[in-house]
Amino acid sequence: MDYYSNVEETAALIRGKVGTPHVAIVLGSGLGDFANTLRDATAWSYGDLPHWPASNVIGHEGRLVIGTLAGRHIAALSGRAHFYEGHDLRTVTFATRVIGRLGVKVLILTNAAGGVNVKLKPGTLMVMDDHINLLGSNPLVGPNEDRFGLRFPDMSEVYSKRLRAAADETARDQDLPIAHGIYVAVHGPSYETPAEIRFLRTIGADAVGMSTVPEAIVARHMGVEVLGISCITNAAAGVLPQPLNHEEVMAVARQVRGRFAALLEGIIGRL
Ligand code: HPA
Repeated sequence: MDYYSNVEETAALIRGKVGTPHVAIVLGSGLGDFANTLRDATAWSYGDLPHWPASNVIGHEGRLVIGTLAGRHIAALSGRAHFYEGHDLRTVTFATRVIGRLGVKVLILTNAAGGVNVKLKPGTLMVMDDHINLLGSNPLVGPNEDRFGLRFPDMSEVYSKRLRAAADETARDQDLPIAHGIYVAVHGPSYETPAEIRFLRTIGADAVGMSTVPEAIVARHMGVEVLGISCITNAAAGVLPQPLNHEEVMAVARQVRGRFAALLEGIIGRL
């Protein structure tokens, strides 16, 4: 079977069981617990969904949970496939395709990211105003599937102004300081060198991570409205005189998850 049929098969299975959720959220490193807060939930392990790639990274659970939150019908994806795992970008974005073909209109992408801008301290939540794709590839490479979208889709507003405003209003209501910035996606899995971080700062990046951008591009290809929020888990390489490690990233993400969950719930309640 071809890719499009695989996406349709998985979307039809989910739609047949729970219908079309209003919003989908992809939960980044350390934030997977959020999926457990949905009520009246139906859950699938990724391994039980046809064609769905497994997520093998520590801190990523690999579960699709669909249920109710803030009075909305939502899908939470706990865990995602990454480019650095060796998947091609079509595999990385399979879940996003399914979400789009399910008919979901709003996609919230979250991630853990390093603070390239020294003003972004660990624990900061940053609304993605835009991105820079340094993955060296694009998920739309290859023959275009016209049933998904255009050959040359516009990317002048990947992250919806309306959704960014909803995030700001929610943060204001909750007295939660929130930052805005540019996210740059790199291939990984090695963390960056200090010289690379200086380069990323020079080209206008505020935060660096290894996910989100392929999903955002594919969502826009399908006309899905996107919000991106980064949890700054560490100062990027070379900012502090200490090495980076995944445990630190996970620990900070866990510390922030209460605030992050409240922000997400508040945003969803506004949509
Ligand atoms: N670099 C790349 N990806 C990351 C980082 C980082 O410093 N922190 C969390 N994800």
